[in-house]
Order: sequence, then C-alpha cells, then structure tokens
Amino acid sequence: MAITRREFIKANAAAAVGLATGAVGPGFSKSSPEEKAVRIGVVGTGNRGRSLLGILLRMEGVEIPALCDIQKPHLDMAVDMLVKAGHKKPESYIKDEYTFKKLMDRDDLDAIIIATYWEWHAPMAVYAMKAGKYAGTEVPAAYTLDECWELVDTHEETGVPCMMLENWSHRRDNLAVLNMIRRGMLGEIVHCHCAHSHDCIDHWFFDPETGMDRWAAKYLLEHNRDQYPTHQLGPVISWMDIGCGDMFDTLTSTATDCFGINDYFIRRFGPDHPNAKRKYAQGDIVSTVVRTKKGKSIVINYDMQLPRPYDNRWMIQGTRGIYNEQRNAVYLTKHSPEYHEWEPFPPYQEKHEHAWWKAILSEAGQYGHGGTDYLELKMFVEAVRNRTQTPIDVYESVIMSANGPLSEQSIAKGGAPVKVPDFTRGKWKTRKPRFALDT
Ligand SMILES: NC(=O)c1ccc[n+]([C@@H]2O[C@H](COP(=O)([O-])OP(=O)(O)OC[C@H]3O[C@@H](n4cnc5c(N)ncnc54)[C@H](O)[C@@H]3O)[C@@H](O)[C@H]2O)c1
Repeated sequence: MAITRREFIKANAAAAVGLATGAVGPGFSKSSPEEKAVRIGVVGTGNRGRSLLGILLRMEGVEIPALCDIQKPHLDMAVDMLVKAGHKKPESYIKDEYTFKKLMDRDDLDAIIIATYWEWHAPMAVYAMKAGKYAGTEVPAAYTLDECWELVDTHEETGVPCMMLENWSHRRDNLAVLNMIRRGMLGEIVHCHCAHSHDCIDHWFFDPETGMDRWAAKYLLEHNRDQYPTHQLGPVISWMDIGCGDMFDTLTSTATDCFGINDYFIRRFGPDHPNAKRKYAQGDIVSTVVRTKKGKSIVINYDMQLPRPYDNRWMIQGTRGIYNEQRNAVYLTKHSPEYHEWEPFPPYQEKHEHAWWKAILSEAGQYGHGGTDYLELKMFVEAVRNRTQTPIDVYESVIMSANGPLSEQSIAKGGAPVKVPDFTRGKWKTRKPRFALDT
C-alpha cells in the first residue's frame, strides 16, 4: 500500500528539521506544504530525463508545466508521457541550446531538473538559481573547477539551493551503513574504498549498433581523468563527514594507458572501424587517493572502459570495524561473534534500516535502481515543497564533482599531489552533518 505524502513528511520530520537551514532565496515565500503543487520544469528529456520524469509523474502534488530539449523526438516522447499520465500538456521549449533560459524565466516554476550533457549542467543550474528556482542537476554537477566555484558563489549570492541528484547517496544499504557509522559501530572512520566500475563503452559513450560517437565520446578523446566521480563518492562523503567535520585536502591520481576502447571496437566492429584506430586521451583505469584534513584516506577508482559486470566496491574501515559491500559483510569488534571473521551484513541492514527507506519501501521498488531514484527525487521535491535546504547541498555537490578536474590535473603532472580547494571556505570546521539524519 502506498503511503500518503503526509505520512512521508511525518516519517521525515526529524530529518527535515535537520535539513532546514533557512537558506531560502529572494522570491521564495514559505508556503504551507499542503497549499499547492510543486511545479517543476525538466531540461533534457533524453533517457535519464524521461526516467526521472516517469517517477515525478507518479508523485502526488507534482506538476510539470514545461519541458525543454534540443531534440524533437526526445521532447515529443516526454510530452506524450505527461499526456498519457493524465497531466496537462506541458509547454515545449526546443529552439536552440540556450532556449532553456526561456523556460527558467517563467514565473510558474519552483524547481528545475537538469538531465542534459555534462557541459550544460553547471551553466543551467547557475541560471536556475539566478531565476529563483531550486536546481536539481544530474551528475556531475560541474565539469571544471571554475564551474564548481560558480555554483557555490551563485548559491551563496542567491540563497537558492542546488542539489546534484546523486542517487547512490540514497541507496538502501548505504543509508543503513550511514546509520551504523553514526551509531559508532565502526569506531572512528579511518579509510574508505570506492569505485565506479561500469562498462559504458558498448552502449553509452558510443552507439551500440554503429559504434559512432554519442555526445559523451568527446570527453574520452579530450580528457584523461575520473570522468564520473560522483557515484563512488555519493555515500562516502556522508560516511566520512566530508564538508561537515572533515574536508578533502590533497589527492593524487594515476591512470593506465587506454587499451579497452580500441580493443572493444576491434572485437565488436573489426579493425577497420574508424573508432578502432583513434587515439583516446582517457586511460582505462584511474586510481585516485585522497587524504583528508583530519588524516583519513579514500581510494577512488574510475573503471568504465573494460568489459565487466557493474560494481562499486565500497569498503569503509574504522577503529572498531569494517563494512565490505562486495562481500556483503561486516566485521565489528563489539558485535561479531568470531574473532577476525566476516559476518553477513543483511541482518545489520534490517536492524539499522534508514527511516527514509522504512517510509517508502512499499512504493519504491517499482522505480529505477530499486527505488533509489524515487527516494532521491522524493527528498528533492519535499525540500522544494517545504522551502528547506536540499538533502545534498551545493557544497557536497561540488566536492564530489571536483574529483573530475582535480584527477586530470594530477594525472597530467605524473601523479603529483594536487591541493583540493576548500569549497566551503572553512565552514567544514563548524558545519554539522545534516544529510539523512535519522533519529
Ligand atoms: N544518475 C544516474 O544514475 C544517471 C544515469 C544515466 C545518466 N545520467 C546523467 O544524465 C545526463 C543525461 O544522460 P542521458 O543518458 O539521458 O543522455 P541522453 O543523450 O539520452 O539525454 C540528454 C538530453 O539532453 C539534451 N540536451 C543537451 N543539451 C541541451 C541543451 N542545451 N538544452 C536542452 N536540451 C539539451 C539532449 O538533446 C538529450 O535529449 C548525463 O549527465 C548523465 O551523466 C545519470
């Protein structure tokens, strides 16, 4: 049975209080949550945009008055989804790459969801904040360090929240681990490992049928970096209080050469395919080591070009225990029955289930990524509705995203350490953890 929105808000009351910072910007009026629907404009109606739209359409109290894309077939499919779901036909914006501004200038929108190409995420989120609309952007929030700073500066100037829609921060197992960490079960956290191991060469960077470039292929030709750093870091930054108690200090990154892309084309299309002979800047595996200001470390792997099943390899280790996602196991000095023996994680997940998941379990499973996408959008929409800070704020969004350009700098310097900018400008020392507080 689906829970009502009122029940959901009640279940999250404690968390909502924790999220509220008063950081509402000009033009925002604090309205009663029951008063009116949340009105969202979606920019980018490709695969991901339509997947998010499908979830929004099934939420109570959400309206989509306007959509924008530069490709008519994508826009038409999205309009069709709305009409079939019984919503009013939205206004379409399509003329050119800058037409999103017209959509964002409308005065009947509360928030914008951005699911376009990487280079557009930050400019669009900045424009949305300046137009007084909550910005919810797909990953990564920014591709360059300048963009990271522009997001922070715009948020600070306008007071309008900006959230990178990092779904893995909201994953069910990751939130149970977060509860266990906050309950002291792993002791003081010392080290973490994480990876984004997802072969995207055969379907996402390149067309699966022809092998021709899709929009993201150009990044592999021009850059050598961790191209997609936020899925790994999503849960890690809350596990380690990054941005609220600790902060990245330096990082070093090493990339292998590129072997996998050429081999894929030879294997799939033959050696004469034009993409089989090209030189790609991007190494197959990037290994980054971050040292934090408080003396902790994180190993981050980028791994999107070799054939393999999907994997994140999360592992978090403290003075009193360790969690290993691949093994689906924990070892906790105070709880585990056998000395130095792993024990299964699922009973711990059940016991430490996060309140957000308890509240949505009956309705979430039907949506993308096992309900994780539903939860992240639900939390974003509730923040917009209640005029509170978003669960992931602008600082956390750019801390995760900055690993892209910073890893590129370090690789270019032969793996030399690179200083990580403090996007909080010192506020990490006094900011309290506020993501997913669960009393
Ligand atoms: N969080 C996740 O799990 C997840 C999963 C898949 C994709 N993504 C992210 O979602 C984004 C979109 O990826 P996708 O796979 O849907 O790609 P896609 O090519 O299917 O869709 C992108 C859409 O953006 C549109 N677009 C590009 N520039 C535009 C502009 N200036 N104005 C209006 N529309 C514009 C394109 O026409 C296209 O329809 C990417 O940033 C990707 O990293 C996230």
